[in-house]
Amino acid sequence: MSLSRHAQSFAKRLAYRLGFSLKRLRPVHAAPSVADDFTDRIRPLLHAVDPYESFDWQSFPDDPSGWGSDSPAFRELVAKTRPARIIEVGTWKGGSALTLAAAAADLGLEVEIICVDTWLGALEMWTDPADPERYGALALKHGYPTLYYQFLANVCRAGRQAAITPFPVPSVTAAQWFALHGIRADLIYIDGSHEEEDVLQDLVSYWDLVRPGGVIFGDDWSWDGVRLAVQQFAADRQLAITHRHDKWELTKP
Ligand SMILES: C[S@@+](CC[C@H](N)C(=O)[O-])C[C@H]1O[C@@H](n2cnc3c(N)ncnc32)[C@H](O)[C@@H]1O
Repeated sequence: MSLSRHAQSFAKRLAYRLGFSLKRLRPVHAAPSVADDFTDRIRPLLHAVDPYESFDWQSFPDDPSGWGSDSPAFRELVAKTRPARIIEVGTWKGGSALTLAAAAADLGLEVEIICVDTWLGALEMWTDPADPERYGALALKHGYPTLYYQFLANVCRAGRQAAITPFPVPSVTAAQWFALHGIRADLIYIDGSHEEEDVLQDLVSYWDLVRPGGVIFGDDWSWDGVRLAVQQFAADRQLAITHRHDKWELTKP
């Protein structure tokens, strides 16, 4: 991050602590991309202690199963945008994040993938307690999901700890945090809640965080909630929706 950007980010955080609202602190237009230094790592800002430190990943099964997580779209988009920073909204057991990390490594890119997920599940994971793939995978202990630890174990087993940084908060909170720190990404994958109002909120929250020329993309076009939200967002901003394999895609002008 450049010195002036550091100063801006510091001033914003200070003002926020003093009680200014994020809305008033956010610039009307995002700063030009040349001011961004994408080589800065986010992890030290988020985690005072390395989340992987002393974690007993070998006691977990090898289970990175997910949905649409090995699509060729990931590899193509990594090759197209050559990202230094990726934000993923909706990680589950880490399938898509691991595909992105492998694609970047194969191209020799040093990427940081920030995985935003509460690891508490989306609506469809809580609708059928007999569903082992969704409800079962939440792995409730005393009524609270422990899925996060399966994700962490999958990252360790794949040896991708350096590339993948967890951010275990609701998507809107994470977007506010990124804005507060003036952080943007080359590639943003939206695969959290599939309810229309939530997808629209994620698009609104994350669009400003995509650097010019970068791409926001997502899964599950066949879900009404996803399709309607993406169509509404694109129409409001006069953006062209394109499709790549099973993913929809919007490019930041
Ligand atoms: C469909 S799964 C993600 C699948 C994953 N990308 C893969 O490769 O298999 C959706 C994930 O979004 C998370 N999620 C849903 N709503 C969220 C929200 N508002 N904030 C953060 N995470 C959310 C859930 O906890 C769940 O892990």
